Amino acid sequence: MTDAPTIAVNPAQPENVFEREETVSDWDQEYYHPIAEKYYDVAVPDMLRAMGAKPGNHVIDAGCGPGVHSIRAVKYGCTVTAIDLSHTMLAHAKERSIKAGVESKIKFQQDDLTKLSLPDNSFDFVFNWGVIIHVPDTMAALDNLTRITKSGGKLALHITNEKSLDFSFERLIRKILNKPLKGREDTPLGTGVWYEYNDDKLWVLRFNANSLISEMKNRGFTKISRNAAEYTELQWRIKGPFRSALLYFNRLAYKLKFPAALSNTQIIIFQKDL
Ligand SMILES: C[S@@+](CC[C@H](N)C(=O)[O-])C[C@H]1O[C@@H](n2cnc3c(N)ncnc32)[C@H](O)[C@@H]1O
Repeated sequence: MTDAPTIAVNPAQPENVFEREETVSDWDQEYYHPIAEKYYDVAVPDMLRAMGAKPGNHVIDAGCGPGVHSIRAVKYGCTVTAIDLSHTMLAHAKERSIKAGVESKIKFQQDDLTKLSLPDNSFDFVFNWGVIIHVPDTMAALDNLTRITKSGGKLALHITNEKSLDFSFERLIRKILNKPLKGREDTPLGTGVWYEYNDDKLWVLRFNANSLISEMKNRGFTKISRNAAEYTELQWRIKGPFRSALLYFNRLAYKLKFPAALSNTQIIIFQKDL
């Protein structure tokens, strides 16, 4: 696990929004606030436990970004294969894992969820945190995630929710201001939007969880749990004490197990039928 490949940092010509350094620093600011980090410190091990992963098991972080959850999985006791489309993200993931002193437990690999090079039935535990929502070809990503999961293995999908309070609030405000969502596309699994982000396009699919669960059923996967993750993500649009208050609210909502139906994000765990 020590033979992590050398990964190019800052390709001269970013190929997409995920290769941009600004995307890494924006996400650091938007998502990895110290108050949110404490939530992840609880939620990621909870997810691994709910999947049945035990210290000593091997997991795949399928879309590791800057590696923060791969590091958490190692701290939980697992070894990790961490894959991502983006060389920039992988470079940060490698650097952060070295800083955390866990790089020998993580195998980094550049790979594309829509055409993964990994063999069929190769992982007992697959997790995908905030990733499939950004892959425009959702079905191809599901083809690969389901293909690499072993029979009886678990696949955890952290997704955004079409029926969340956040999204309903956004729709209401847009209606009042007469500012329809641009770049919207309705898909069989939910509402997608192409956002302008760092001079590029970022696809975000807000899933209809029931449609996803039946799609997975057709693929031979049974839902074993569905829980609220971050109750709101409005926090990254604001600053100061209100932002901190929303982040603390998210932690409380998670601790008290607020219903998933209205939360901004959800973690759905599936088991591949034997
Ligand atoms: C919002 S980040 C989430 C990163 C990490 N899981 C986390 O929660 O911190 C989404 C990640 O998905 C990766 N990604 C997007 N499309 C991908 C694809 N087709 N295959 C693999 N990774 C992809 C991006 O490069 C980015 O690192």
